[in-house]
Amino acid sequence: MKQVKIGICGLGTVGGGTVQVLRRNAALISGRAGCELTITRVATRSKRGDIELGDIPSSTDVFDVVRDPEVDILVELIGGYDTARELVLAAIAAGKHVVTANKALIAVHGNEIFAAAAQKGVIVAYEAGVAGGIPVIKAIREGLAANRINWLAGIINGTGNYILTEMRTGRPFDEVLAEAQALGYAEADPTFDVEGTDAAHKLTIMASAAFGVPLQFERAYTEGIRDLTPYDISHAEALGYRVKHLGIARQREDGIELRVHPTLVPVNHMMGKVDGVLNAILVDGDAVGQTLYHGPGAGSEATASSVIADLVDVARSVAASSNQRVPYLGFGPEAVTDHRILPMDEIRSAYYLRIQAFDRPGVLAKVATILSDNGINIESIMQKESEFQDGRIPVILLTHTVQERQINQAIAQMEALEDVEGNVVRIRAENFL
Ligand code: HSE
Repeated sequence: MKQVKIGICGLGTVGGGTVQVLRRNAALISGRAGCELTITRVATRSKRGDIELGDIPSSTDVFDVVRDPEVDILVELIGGYDTARELVLAAIAAGKHVVTANKALIAVHGNEIFAAAAQKGVIVAYEAGVAGGIPVIKAIREGLAANRINWLAGIINGTGNYILTEMRTGRPFDEVLAEAQALGYAEADPTFDVEGTDAAHKLTIMASAAFGVPLQFERAYTEGIRDLTPYDISHAEALGYRVKHLGIARQREDGIELRVHPTLVPVNHMMGKVDGVLNAILVDGDAVGQTLYHGPGAGSEATASSVIADLVDVARSVAASSNQRVPYLGFGPEAVTDHRILPMDEIRSAYYLRIQAFDRPGVLAKVATILSDNGINIESIMQKESEFQDGRIPVILLTHTVQERQINQAIAQMEALEDVEGNVVRIRAENFL
């Protein structure tokens, strides 16, 4: 059986899992690939203690993998932007195929990397970068190839979802984050998880594969979960909604919505039931309707599962010396067209608002007048009499879907009222229609 030789850069959480699964399921995997996948070189700065390398040559310089002429596929699992970019471009220049789990790299430098790879005729595969073990890139690029994809919405950061899930039981944010780090879910820099950057990387990649547009991470709107309070989380529940951190990409005639932010989702909708480190992506296609991809979004062997699926794809192509390849972003280069990414004030959403009002006659009427003057319809409203304190009382409401510009204007007018104290809390809401 033909051998395809693999060089792995980075033996941390995902690299370690990749070695373990490749070994454990070797016969199964080679049966699927039609060739033997053999690790012939590794390079890592810090190796997981439980991974035995035997006689596989190993060094601390990841560029040794590029320099090894035997290596057919370089697996980039070092993460980060700069060295990873240099490494992947060097591997491409050396005629090697690349498999990566690095969403930051693809979201930010993907256009450059795919152009270089196309010129060299090599594959760059990145399934493991988006939603860990869920094969969502394959679903979008291949399984849904018949569809005009209208929108997709995903819980695409396991750490963030883990934190939000645990916060519902009243556990403090920092304690849960430390636990997610210990479990190997969080990024090396967990601010990427908490501030939404990691989710924006993944959303950018999915949007490009879904809509056939260049990667435009810098235009994605990104808001994290750090400012969410248990108070709003529990009041959203009282309204029948659960707070999730969503990435939403929607294709409209006038442009593309590309946004990551905390979002209220109906508690009884499947997306409201996705808890812990699990991820889920709901995709709306014109032919198929809605399909949901659900599973582990992070973790060692779960992410290795996607790395190895890409290795099998690439190995099939190497073993067969085949030119039949799926385009990098699912669309042939001539079909990738630029489309405007919409500014946030043009997006459409429903909104949860919490207003800290002084308990005086007419306050509710003023709030309602501002909303109606701005063309905003109220879906539900509650005034928490039980939480009256020092003459102040919270007013919580949910609006129908409106343009973000309208809500911004209404919030500014409410905050200018003498009867309203501080800033109005706003969380977007989604009904997946
Ligand atoms: N830090 C990421 C997460 C890992 O928590 O989802 C998988 O990309």
